[in-house]
Amino acid sequence: MDVESALAWIMGPNGIEDPYPGYQALHEHGQIVQVTDSMFLVVGYEAADQILRDASTSVVNEARLDRNWRAWRTNRASTLLTKTLLFTDPPDHTRVRPLLASWFSARRVAGMRDLIQERSERLTDDLVERCADDGIVNLVREFALPLPVRIMCDILGVPPADYRWFEDRVGDMLIVLEAFPPPEEAELGQRSTREMEAYILDLIADRRRAPADDLTSALVGAHDRDEAALTADEVLVNLVGMMAAALDSTTYLLANGLLQLLRRPEHATRLRADEEFAQPYVEELLRWDAPAQFTVRRTTTTMRVGDVTLPPEAELLILLGAANRDPRRFDAPHDFRPDRPGNQPISFSVGPHFCLGSPLARLEAQIALPAVMRGLPDLTLAGEPTRLNRYAIRWYDYLPATVKAT
Ligand code: HEM
Repeated sequence: MDVESALAWIMGPNGIEDPYPGYQALHEHGQIVQVTDSMFLVVGYEAADQILRDASTSVVNEARLDRNWRAWRTNRASTLLTKTLLFTDPPDHTRVRPLLASWFSARRVAGMRDLIQERSERLTDDLVERCADDGIVNLVREFALPLPVRIMCDILGVPPADYRWFEDRVGDMLIVLEAFPPPEEAELGQRSTREMEAYILDLIADRRRAPADDLTSALVGAHDRDEAALTADEVLVNLVGMMAAALDSTTYLLANGLLQLLRRPEHATRLRADEEFAQPYVEELLRWDAPAQFTVRRTTTTMRVGDVTLPPEAELLILLGAANRDPRRFDAPHDFRPDRPGNQPISFSVGPHFCLGSPLARLEAQIALPAVMRGLPDLTLAGEPTRLNRYAIRWYDYLPATVKAT
């Protein structure tokens, strides 16, 4: 496949289902593939790693958004997201990130183990009741989405009565990360973002009156102590943006994990018997099918990466999903092998924007997948899963299974 055909594959309907043949073809053209004078695809693991760690690159690129999607300046989902950490350069990024990071440190997340275990077991028990008349349950809607939503709601201080309200909205927002979002979906993304913003504004007002032990109170406190340390707008956009950043990709990780276990019962059996197996299993899941397929950077100076010289103002599409299948880095990269030695997927990125929530997402998957397999040993796939038409963050919306209680 030449570069043009590989791109057509990745950007077309095949790419939503399975972008990997397109990536495989791109790997044959080197670590970095030039598409236009100023646009480059980064497909190699080594090149992606070097660029993402390089603090001279920028995550701000309004020219790219103007070119790809003219409506972005008037859609609240994208105007909000572009103000979150993910799209903020230093000095603002350096100032705000530690205020959020302390809430997601490995130590703090390890303290959430019992809560995640308890929530996973409760949702697993509920699956039996949640079956529709035909005895089939949608594991996305009834497990993979509610688990991370409920955990994030707890962190923010959202009460249980409102869990479902968030479950109905969080998945809509990240449509704006797609290159060409369909207008009606972009509109839905905007509406859900506005509703979540209104909700979080009320929560902020509540916590200002009566602080509690949650992230919302912590950010409100940081702002009230020193407005220069964290502005009111930064409190709002990062709380709303964090919900979206936390949920779509974790939901995909859990849904895909369940699907792969139902397709490979030998892994399910091992997961039930061996607690240690969950860690390498989840790492391979992250590598084999990265929930977030790409991220973007802009060069600010000339940059040398391997034998390629990138000019200033180059637009870099860093294909994390491709880097994870780089044959120069991983043996038999298309095989699903949880016992792979030295597995270090780049799915959470690396460098200054390294995913803040990676300890949480990993722990949720390491606890939830064995919990479902142990609680429902007769769980079976009841048909083909379906996907949403999304490339940036992969999405199963329907994962049908039949459930028998033990
Ligand atoms: C499987 C689940 C997840 C995946 C695959 C994922 C992936 C990513 C990636 C690739 C980035 C960095 C993008 C870049 O370098 O440009 C990122 C950033 C981020 N993620 Fe995650 N994420 C996941 C779960 C979470 C969770 C649970 C949280 C919630 C706490 C979260 C919060 C964030 C935040 C706040 C950033 C921005 C960090 C910054 O720009 O400094 N993510 N995530």
